[in-house]
Amino acid sequence: MPRVLIVHYSRTGHTARLAKVLADEIRRRGYEVDTEAIRVKRDRNKWLLPLPLLPLLPLLPVYLMSAQFRRVWHRVYHQPEQAIRPLAIPDVSAYDLVLLGTPKWLYLSFPVARWLKAASGLQGRRVAPFATFCGPPLKVFELEMLFEPLESRLRTRGATVVDRLAVSSNYHPYFFFGEMERLFRFISRKAFKRPLADFTLDGEVGKIELQRFCDTVCPK
Ligand SMILES: Cc1cc2nc3c(=O)[nH]c(=O)nc-3n(C[C@H](O)[C@H](O)[C@H](O)COP(=O)(O)O)c2cc1C
Repeated sequence: MPRVLIVHYSRTGHTARLAKVLADEIRRRGYEVDTEAIRVKRDRNKWLLPLPLLPLLPLLPVYLMSAQFRRVWHRVYHQPEQAIRPLAIPDVSAYDLVLLGTPKWLYLSFPVARWLKAASGLQGRRVAPFATFCGPPLKVFELEMLFEPLESRLRTRGATVVDRLAVSSNYHPYFFFGEMERLFRFISRKAFKRPLADFTLDGEVGKIELQRFCDTVCPK
């Protein structure tokens, strides 16, 4: 029976929920599933967390407009990392497939960036990243900004990326009165003519995406 490992980091529970739904669905399909929740050594203050991400903000318009700039930026930007606790499954080579889950912290989350260095056995593995973020699946700002750096790191470790899954959490920890959620709900209506809720795990598009992802990585 094919063995699947689902690894994830989650700070506020949304990626953890997605990891659980994936584990349940993949087990239901007859696969053997192990799970690992990445835990940080010390949680960082929510307001200090985005500081190392600020250098992109003044350049964001150029980033969004120029594919060439994005290619260069993804090669040179500083990816912050965060110390993680010892892993229960530090060597993933026993698995046929690894699903790696992260919240989007502009790029990949800091603890997942560290996991990519700490875990061994990625060489030759089939890997599929999955993620939650607040917004709808905007091609550049959400999908490319997260998955390009994440997948290029996976490929550098010798993994083959077989698919990706992105689900909106419709949740953002900043700022005080749900300003970011409101902004992303507005963008969702403008860009996709759909409410942001459609792209969540409980929404129409989110549910279809989840099934599509599972059909690709763990066919029935
Ligand atoms: C430092 C930081 C940066 C974030 N950047 C983005 C972003 O670029 N786009 C987005 O839609 N959400 C962003 N978010 C929101 C999270 O991706 C979202 O709330 C996610 O679902 C949280 O997952 P979790 O509950 O598993 O931690 C950011 C959150 C943090 C803490």
